[in-house]
Amino acid sequence: MAFINENYLKLQAGYLFPEISRRVKAFTDANPEVAARIIRCGIGDVTEPLPAACISAMHKAVDEMGVRETFRGYGPEQGYDFLRNAIADNDFKARGLDIEADEIFVSDGSKCDCGNLLDIFGTGNRIAVTDPVYPVYVDTNVMLGNTGNANDKGQFDGLTYLPCTAENGFVPELPSGPVDLIYLCYPNNPTGAVATREQLQNWVNFALSCNAVIVFDAAYEAYISTPGIPHSIFEIPGARECALELRSFSKNGGFTGLRCGYAVIPKTLMGRKRNGEKHPFHALWLRNHTTKFNGVAYPVQRAAEALYSPEGKQQVMQLVNFYKENAHLLQQALSSVGLDVYGYTDSSYLWVRGPKGATSWALFDRLLQHANIVTTPGSGFGAAGEGYFRLSAFNSRSNVEEACRRLIDPELFKG
Ligand code: MLT
Repeated sequence: MAFINENYLKLQAGYLFPEISRRVKAFTDANPEVAARIIRCGIGDVTEPLPAACISAMHKAVDEMGVRETFRGYGPEQGYDFLRNAIADNDFKARGLDIEADEIFVSDGSKCDCGNLLDIFGTGNRIAVTDPVYPVYVDTNVMLGNTGNANDKGQFDGLTYLPCTAENGFVPELPSGPVDLIYLCYPNNPTGAVATREQLQNWVNFALSCNAVIVFDAAYEAYISTPGIPHSIFEIPGARECALELRSFSKNGGFTGLRCGYAVIPKTLMGRKRNGEKHPFHALWLRNHTTKFNGVAYPVQRAAEALYSPEGKQQVMQLVNFYKENAHLLQQALSSVGLDVYGYTDSSYLWVRGPKGATSWALFDRLLQHANIVTTPGSGFGAAGEGYFRLSAFNSRSNVEEACRRLIDPELFKG
């Protein structure tokens, strides 16, 4: 009989979002009369159709695949040049950033990149994560045996947790000692907070001082509207030597179902061998991609390329603005009943402090049962999220308006 990876057994609950779906299903099975009233503001999944520019690009690409002369089989594992060039030109060079097309690796999304990336890091790295945190960073490290067991707060031995609170603007203080791998996500999931240039510069300086690598998750970059907030870690001097960045087309182009994103691994980002010799992560990731991945489907890469066309950019802006307007409506409703609401200005998420004494899961149940609204419990993102809930603004306008009507019931948030 084959042995199992026992590290998986350290993960106490199921992955957060399937767990929420399970609880919602149990509720609607027991109360079928309210099933149609449920408004899902839990997982950050987009609701609006794909930009028209993507649809026509995909139609064209599909037609090409039906003709011998233009048919394509395996593509380059790291992505077609047309997309890597569009990304480098638009997301980086247009902002004056020094990122080359061959430092971009097109993938089927940031969640997969997050997990797969750990393949190119050795064992024994000291890992720092924020609290609250996007659970994928933690769970993938647990699965690989990079942690011990969880304590009763759900925190794993061996990880350095960096508390993000309203007091520090949800941007953590630097760790008290050296670490090797640091996960940062800005605009942040789940809190919606952004990090200033000065804050990110502090992180880059810290990483350089201890030869750490920052995994910078910028999946929500399109939602930044506050002037001066960096859109990429590579806006920060020194980042090419200590950071890699993950980007996604899910939240700007609405690709959650289509699947496409990319990782930027600068050729200047070095790790070291046990004997101290330096080695570029870029070469390892290239080897990983070419061995384990056969690339994103050609029509999907053409759709992603279309996001950078003049019409595509316009349509992305409309989509992002639509969800941001949703966030604004939800914020007004929640603030009107006296709740502290964070995030939302540069993000598709609202991070909401519940009434004193209410746990996150109690709030989740209360909102599900009394308002038929699905949220994400803050504690599902970490111990520091206890007492909070996250609301996703990815929804139709009619659902958001209806959610707002239900949320302004003061009974809902009585302590
Ligand atoms: C979320 O709700 O946190 C996101 O949808 C997760 C993801 O993008 O994987």
